Amino acid sequence: MEREKVLVSAEDLERQRTYMRRVRALLESRGVSPTACVDTFGCQQNVADGERLQGMLREMGFTLTEEPEGADVVLLNTCAVREHAEDRVFGNLGALSHSKKANPDMIIGLCGCMAQEERVSQRVKKSFPYVNLVFGPHAMWKFPELLWRVYDRRGRVFSTEDEHGTISEGLPVVRGDSIKAWVSIMYGCNNFCSYCIVPYVRGRERSRDPQCVLEEVRSLVEAGYKDITLLGQNVNSYGNDLGLGYDFADLLSDIDKIPGEYLIRFTSSHPKDATHKLFDTMARCEHVAKQLHLPFQSGNDRVLKEMNRRYTREQYLSLIRYAREKMPNIVLTSDVIIGFPGETEEEAMDTVSLVKEVGFDALFTFIYSPRPGTRAAEFPDPATRQEKLKWFDKLLAVQNEWSAKLHAAYIGKTERVLVDGTSDDPDYPLAARTEGHRLVRLKGDPGLMGKFINVRITDSNTWALYGEAE
Ligand code: SAM
Ligand code: SF4
Ligand code: F3S
Repeated sequence: MEREKVLVSAEDLERQRTYMRRVRALLESRGVSPTACVDTFGCQQNVADGERLQGMLREMGFTLTEEPEGADVVLLNTCAVREHAEDRVFGNLGALSHSKKANPDMIIGLCGCMAQEERVSQRVKKSFPYVNLVFGPHAMWKFPELLWRVYDRRGRVFSTEDEHGTISEGLPVVRGDSIKAWVSIMYGCNNFCSYCIVPYVRGRERSRDPQCVLEEVRSLVEAGYKDITLLGQNVNSYGNDLGLGYDFADLLSDIDKIPGEYLIRFTSSHPKDATHKLFDTMARCEHVAKQLHLPFQSGNDRVLKEMNRRYTREQYLSLIRYAREKMPNIVLTSDVIIGFPGETEEEAMDTVSLVKEVGFDALFTFIYSPRPGTRAAEFPDPATRQEKLKWFDKLLAVQNEWSAKLHAAYIGKTERVLVDGTSDDPDYPLAARTEGHRLVRLKGDPGLMGKFINVRITDSNTWALYGEAE
């Protein structure tokens, strides 16, 4: 795909700014002070998209609210990765019918990954007549124009064409936090893991220009952000489509040169593209957190092959050994799927044994959910839900025991943390993260918010450390 076709042109973006002004003028002429709610589900990529949608809404004159009730525009920014995520969205859409009855002028929009699925947009067309607007991730940059069309024609608008995908620079943004920020460095996915819907709804891999990423990170650091996460479905293939001979490790090295007191993290990494160069770079760069989220999905080679993951158990373990050799205190997390179609108990136990062998700091564990349109959804799946739950519980028990042990070993130690939140626990009113992103519940003064401080760890459980500012 040629670069000119990937980048949304300056003229097209200017046209969207014209639509933003039009919507704003229309609402002002009606004498209303409109409100909008963006309800985001799913991964950080969707959160980052939600911040862009909020940015466009603010430019159009909307005040943002977290409550859909009474809002003039409600957008459900959805996730399609598992059936449960989709069910929740349909539940929320159903509930919004009452709000729409109370306020017939309310505009309800469905966007994000689910909206890109033909099956979903057809269902919304037929069964949710009160939904005004449906658009997938490919059309997000055109949101002002789509919203204008809804206001102008009072009809339903669907923009869900299947596309390779584009990059639009310079969309307005409302960041949800003043300490932590998301920076997408690439979009889409080329990997087609056989269980996964993401490549079908987010298009092919396309990387932002390194200069655009560097400028965004620099401006965030200058604005006082302390914890910046670089996003992509597989950041390890960053740059492959640019033809510059410039890869993700090069990008990390250049970001690291930006002066300031901040940490850089990234997610997600694919083991097939994680290189020694990347780990060497992480080890060397002072701003890069020594934390790695490296999803392995299964510990069994036959299942990995059926998943189309393109690495073996041994290759994965060898990457982990290398990362630990270079960064002995690295915090490791991973994603795992239990109950892939055709997986046997023995194969599921290979996953459990890999978890034991590596000793992850934390795991994101999922039971396989068939996604219509993916290859694996066609595979025979003889194991019962009950069997899968049994394997899943075994995996959780092993991980939880290990996490609790790892956390207990912190008691009495001093850790450098970034104070980044509050909690409603009066004994521990602050929340903080270590460099490795472990949660620390903290006694201390709210004035510490946004600061890197040393804390003494006094207690722990499976999910968190507890401490006091030194
Ligand atoms: N691109 C990232 C990667 O490969 O690590 C993240 C992909 S997905 C948004 C996050 C996780 O959801 C995956 O790593 C996988 O464990 C899980 N997942 C994806 N499809 C799934 C499915 N059909 N059923 C259950 N879990 C799934
Ligand atoms: Fe899905 Fe695999 Fe792409 Fe991750 S790498 S988004 S699991 S297809
Ligand atoms: Fe979900 Fe889309 Fe992210 S399917 S996990 S919101 S890329």
